[in-house]
Amino acid sequence: MGRLGIPILALALALAGAGASFAQTFEERLSQCLACHGERGQSEIPEVPSLGGQPAMYVLIELFMFRQNLRTAPPMNDMTAGLSDADLQKFADAIAKLPPPQPAEGADPARMARAQALVQQHRCAFCHNNFAGADNVPRLAAQREDYLLKALREYKAGTRREYQPVMAEVMAALKDEDLVDLAHFLAHVGAP
Ligand code: HEC
Ligand code: HEC
Repeated sequence: MGRLGIPILALALALAGAGASFAQTFEERLSQCLACHGERGQSEIPEVPSLGGQPAMYVLIELFMFRQNLRTAPPMNDMTAGLSDADLQKFADAIAKLPPPQPAEGADPARMARAQALVQQHRCAFCHNNFAGADNVPRLAAQREDYLLKALREYKAGTRREYQPVMAEVMAALKDEDLVDLAHFLAHVGAP
């Protein structure tokens, strides 16, 4: 070993150490996701959706949409940039196993009744499997009210791109005050 031997070895070890701290395990990356979305499937952060109980297929489709910048939403476009299809599938499978969120308390009976009429008229429960979601259709039961209202407004305004244009059509017949009541209702209902 020459005079440079030790410094070069030290440099190589330092680089290997730096590399290890960048290459995170799947569990470390998942815990980053859940720091925002809630460890137990229930989000505590305004406008960040709860993910517990979401069907794996819906989650996979949305992660794909974020990665391809088809659904635009900071920070999700950054979080999914560069992930492989297999990574997206792993996140989707892990998320689908989180326990579903609990309905919010303090429902306003008048708003619940108005929303219930809209739900019947627009077949929300039919498509959304009594709000539990299934396959490519999301769970809505006990989702955060602020996120639900944001999502509905974005569909209505045409700013949230869908995999297939379903919700934009449903929203066409609804007014903003209807969306406010629907978000309130969904945040306060449970589902299996
Ligand atoms: C800094 C906070 C933050 C982090 C970290 C984060 N997310 Fe998100 N995520 C959000 C926000 C905010 C939205 C809602 C975007 C919108 O309004 O459309 C979202 C939306 C989603 C959705 C769509 C949910 C739905 O109901 O349509 C999924 C799925 C998701 N995130 C999964 C993940 C995964 C997997 C990770 C880790 C790789 C992750 N998130 C990391 C904040 C975060
Ligand atoms: C024909 C079937 C169908 C009907 C009817 C329907 N939905 Fe949807 N809904 C979907 C699908 C599919 C998606 C996912 C679209 C996407 O890719 O963004 C969705 C998404 C949503 C989302 C976004 C959830 C999330 O986690 O981001 C909300 C909120 C929602 N629907 C509420 C409603 C309400 C309220 C009604 C009734 C007024 C309704 N839906 C009627 C099929 C339907």
